[in-house]
Amino acid sequence: MNAPCPPQFEAFDPRILRRALGNFATGVTIVTAHDGVGQVGVTANSFSSVSLDPPLILWSIDKRSSSYAVFERSEHFAVNVLAVDQIALSNQFAGPHKDRFSSVPVRSGAGGCALLEGTSANFQCQKYQTLDGGDHWVLIGRVVAFEDNGRSPLLYHQGSYSMALPHRERQRLPERSAGGSRERLADHTYYLMTQAVRSYQQSYQPEQIRTGWRPGEARVLMILDAGRPLDVSSLVQETDMPLREIEQTLEMLRGREFVQSDGGYYQLTAAGAEQARKVWTLAQHFEDKVFSRFEPAQVRAFKDILKGVIAATTAPID
Ligand SMILES: Cc1cc2nc3c(=O)[nH]c(=O)nc-3n(C[C@H](O)[C@H](O)[C@H](O)COP(=O)(O)O)c2cc1C
Repeated sequence: MNAPCPPQFEAFDPRILRRALGNFATGVTIVTAHDGVGQVGVTANSFSSVSLDPPLILWSIDKRSSSYAVFERSEHFAVNVLAVDQIALSNQFAGPHKDRFSSVPVRSGAGGCALLEGTSANFQCQKYQTLDGGDHWVLIGRVVAFEDNGRSPLLYHQGSYSMALPHRERQRLPERSAGGSRERLADHTYYLMTQAVRSYQQSYQPEQIRTGWRPGEARVLMILDAGRPLDVSSLVQETDMPLREIEQTLEMLRGREFVQSDGGYYQLTAAGAEQARKVWTLAQHFEDKVFSRFEPAQVRAFKDILKGVIAATTAPID
């Protein structure tokens, strides 16, 4: 009798699989450990809760990671859940080692693991189990202490940093309300702004996706369209994407001859400029369609008010 055939698995292109997996939106964490000699910190979005009783969480680390030795020796690790204004920290802990802890105020948590300031939460864990997860190690930790600061979280979706807005379904107001609270809420600027962004995004995104570009890729094209050649670190500054995503996007754009590089500086080719023009035209066309019911002076005033709101809320309000 013949031995049963082993199951045949499809050999996926890892870059295409990774891109598809990027549809699953996650938070962003920095996981730290201290082995008594040195400390490490790694940006990771593979964090997930596992169990409440016992309290378990997990994350996974690339087997090639140079930080793994410290995680392996350490009895503990701490997961720092980043807040929406901590993109720079996320990039720092995914970048060169020598820069990671520089000018980052930290406190010491369980097992001496670094706890970062200004985060949404942290989970200090004792190592519970390490599993072999293909090209990653899956680290399961038992939570021994945690802090819940409740700050708005930094999100990661389709290779770009993102942020959470209350969903329209959740914001739907009751038909009747006591004392006119419904009307009052419906007229509140925060409610109106989040509603407007949600519904604008919801109707714009299908059109944007039809161009074949993910939002982050479209942004790279639009930024390079300014004409000035840019290096990778300027692109990290000007987009909401981490270094590795920028590098992969540039590699893909170069492979398709939409981008050329000279001495580490990137610019669009004529074919790339044509793609950027298509993305800009779509964005402009959509804006024109939405605002066609208003007078140009009203649209100008609206934009000035939005800029004023951004300026007023970027600096703390007293
Ligand atoms: C948003 C984001 C999420 C990441 N998630 C993970 C992860 O879950 N696991 C991992 O091993 N690396 C992840 N990385 C990559 C690591 O942060 C980085 O490549 C790693 O720290 C390399 O340095 P090392 O050799 O010191 O570990 C992520 C990077 C970014 C920007």
